[in-house]
Amino acid sequence: MGFMENVIKIKGGQELSGEVTISGSKNATVALIPAAVLAHGPVTIVGVPSISDVDSLSAILADLNVEVIKKAKDHIIIDPTNIKNVSLDTPAVTKLRASYYFMGALLGRYGEVKIKMPGGCYLGPRPIDLHLKGFEALGADVKYEQGCYLIKAKKLVGAKIFLDISSVGATINIMMAAVYAQGRTIIENAAKEPEIIDVATLLNKMGAKVRGAGTNVITIDGVDKLMGCFHEIIPDRIEAGTYIILAAAVAKKITVKNIIPQHLEALLSKLEEMGVKMEVGIDSIVIEKSKKLNPIDIKASPYPGFATDLQQPLTSLLTKCDGESSIIDTIYPERFKHCIELQRMGANIEIGHGKSIIKGSNDLFGDVVEATDLRCGASLVIAGLMASGTTEIHGTLHIDRGYEDIDGKLKALGAIIWRENL
Ligand code: EPU
Repeated sequence: MGFMENVIKIKGGQELSGEVTISGSKNATVALIPAAVLAHGPVTIVGVPSISDVDSLSAILADLNVEVIKKAKDHIIIDPTNIKNVSLDTPAVTKLRASYYFMGALLGRYGEVKIKMPGGCYLGPRPIDLHLKGFEALGADVKYEQGCYLIKAKKLVGAKIFLDISSVGATINIMMAAVYAQGRTIIENAAKEPEIIDVATLLNKMGAKVRGAGTNVITIDGVDKLMGCFHEIIPDRIEAGTYIILAAAVAKKITVKNIIPQHLEALLSKLEEMGVKMEVGIDSIVIEKSKKLNPIDIKASPYPGFATDLQQPLTSLLTKCDGESSIIDTIYPERFKHCIELQRMGANIEIGHGKSIIKGSNDLFGDVVEATDLRCGASLVIAGLMASGTTEIHGTLHIDRGYEDIDGKLKALGAIIWRENL
């Protein structure tokens, strides 16, 4: 991945076949890497996806004087032995939203952190008030000065924290801030996403006492010292979902490997309702071409509900269904920019507040479109594969933030996809 801006071009209309292997979870990785700074010894993480968000987090680790050793393509050792708690205000911090996990991790370790406002995909307003309220409940004082958060505690003490919204980021951030706090922290109405369990598993391997991750009540008993450990990241359920949706749209027969089907139940049950031909194995799924697809209604909601991150890719597939489908996003009501791009490609979509109505079926055709955020990018790649003619996708940096080697994986399935520098 160079710094040169490029576009992805796709010649659509090919029938794809073969196997694709899913990488480690992006949204787990971006929390696991900051969590590693809580350890007093090297943390080995396997299954790290090659995505630019990982590069940005590695740059932040370098600023903190944390050593990152790349042992293999997906295998890193993070050694925080010589860590220094410097202010985090470099451009890497604003490249992604997950840099905010350094708030919880550094506050947890040092009782103090100074960090610039995090960046990330614009999906409408994405406040972090619940993270900050959680830190305050643990005894921290939060100040915002000249674009930087200064969060400081004389002493962190366990507390009972009820989250008004079950936020993934706030749950993980509070968990990390609480591992060294004195006494017991209880997070109520905690988010239940599988990535939260993965972070709790890492923390527990390091010696923390986190119980209940994956349920809506998480208990953290403070400990004195965390050590290094070995951890393998769970497969990326959103990347898996993206390839499964893509297969339902353009496959003759595709096998998606390295998945945890239980993490994909909301998607798989909807695809079944649509009439997608598929066979679910223990850690893989085979999707075959289906004759006719039924329209469906989707309501994106917190896990185990239908993932907001998959409603965008799914929209492209729904243009193929005969009849009217609807999508409501209860998490990000403004996450519908992809619909405007899909309209350019011939999709008949009505966009309302927090809602889209897809009136199919429509034949899509190639055009010049813009990936305004990561999953919008995924929906455009799928649309490009479905469309007649050539699709040119701008804003590829968003796609490279979260999808490992998307060109390579699609080429291996027979797609005609290439990049051109701008
Ligand atoms: N919210 C608040 N206040 C807060 C935190 C969140 O009001 O302090 C609201 C948000 O505005 C949103 C809802 O709570 O309406 C849920 O947000 P959450 O905090 O759960 O989202 P996040 O942690 O910022 C993660 C993923 C997103 C994914 C969402 C929802 C990471 C790094 N990001 O974001 O993933 O869409 O959960 O599942 O884990 C993506 O991968 O493309 C992506 C954007």
